[in-house]
Amino acid sequence: MADSGLILVTGAAGRLGAVGRTVTGLLLDRGFPVRAMVRREDDRAAALRAAGAEVVVGDLLEPADVYRVVNGCRRVYFGMSVSAGYLEATVTMAAVARELGMDALVNMSQMTVSEMSIENTTPSPQQRQHWLSEQALAWSGLPVVTIRPTVFLEGFFLPLTGPSVRDRGRIELPFGQGKTSPVATADVARVIAAVLADPRPHLGRIYELTGPRSQDIHGVAREYSDALNREVTYSDIPPADWERELKKAGLPEHLTRHLVTMAELNRAGRYDRMSDGVERVTGRPAMSVREFVSLHAGEFGGRRS
Ligand SMILES: NC(=O)c1ccc[n+]([C@@H]2O[C@H](COP(=O)([O-])OP(=O)(O)OC[C@H]3O[C@@H](n4cnc5c(N)ncnc54)[C@H](OP(=O)(O)O)[C@@H]3O)[C@@H](O)[C@H]2O)c1
Repeated sequence: MADSGLILVTGAAGRLGAVGRTVTGLLLDRGFPVRAMVRREDDRAAALRAAGAEVVVGDLLEPADVYRVVNGCRRVYFGMSVSAGYLEATVTMAAVARELGMDALVNMSQMTVSEMSIENTTPSPQQRQHWLSEQALAWSGLPVVTIRPTVFLEGFFLPLTGPSVRDRGRIELPFGQGKTSPVATADVARVIAAVLADPRPHLGRIYELTGPRSQDIHGVAREYSDALNREVTYSDIPPADWERELKKAGLPEHLTRHLVTMAELNRAGRYDRMSDGVERVTGRPAMSVREFVSLHAGEFGGRRS
């Protein structure tokens, strides 16, 4: 099939700051034609269309939908929300990509996968599915580029620490004294857009992505304090209390089990990782926690003048 240049971005609706949505914007800004796949017609779909994307509606768990949205695209970003059907969606995408042919499939994964094997897995159903998805894509023979970010500032720290920082000046997490190096999805999206713009040098590579510093949550709290010009402290809360709060908030079981595992791995020091993937691919270093909190100061309760 001839390369029309059209790039498919799945999971494109997202929240503001989600990966697919940001990748779509970055590629459009660079003049690439983008097909943005969403699950439903809503104001997010309308905004993508207004920005210049060709918006297609479909379900990544429906093979016929996946065939329809991939057809005509030789480069694809594949990512969707943390959910129970993740492995099925990945294998469906791989089957369709093999049928239609593809020049680059950029697969969203997670950094924890780097430390997983048959004998060393984790209790998170999402991490297990990412590990299996990476295996299946390797068997597929497709031209894959694997993106393994650590925890997101937008997708984790903003929603899960924003309210307590706003109301009580505290980061309340059951992370013990473990270190972490969160990365901004803005940076993750910059990496993915750079790869999709010119995939050839990246094919077969795995990019681990972290922020610029690995530190415990007391250190993270100091960066919040600097950004907000007021004291923010870390409160190491009991894991069972956190799990109860997540359940009370009505999160799906799959997501709750994933988050509870993340906390457990944090306490065990498994998020103490550093990589220069963002700078290597984009030429610009990853955003610090302080820069991120400054940019989103309003959502953390504002900066004291
Ligand atoms: N959050 C983190 O800290 C973190 C860290 C490392 C890696 N990751 C990985 O990043 C990915 C999530 O990225 P994100 O936060 O940018 O995603 P997201 O915003 O949570 O989800 C992207 C989109 O996927 C869509 N979607 C869900 N199920 C679908 C289906 N069956 N068919 C079509 N679309 C579907 C959702 O549509 P609706 O909005 O309409 O529901 C959503 O807009 C996951 O692979 C996760 O493992 C996350």
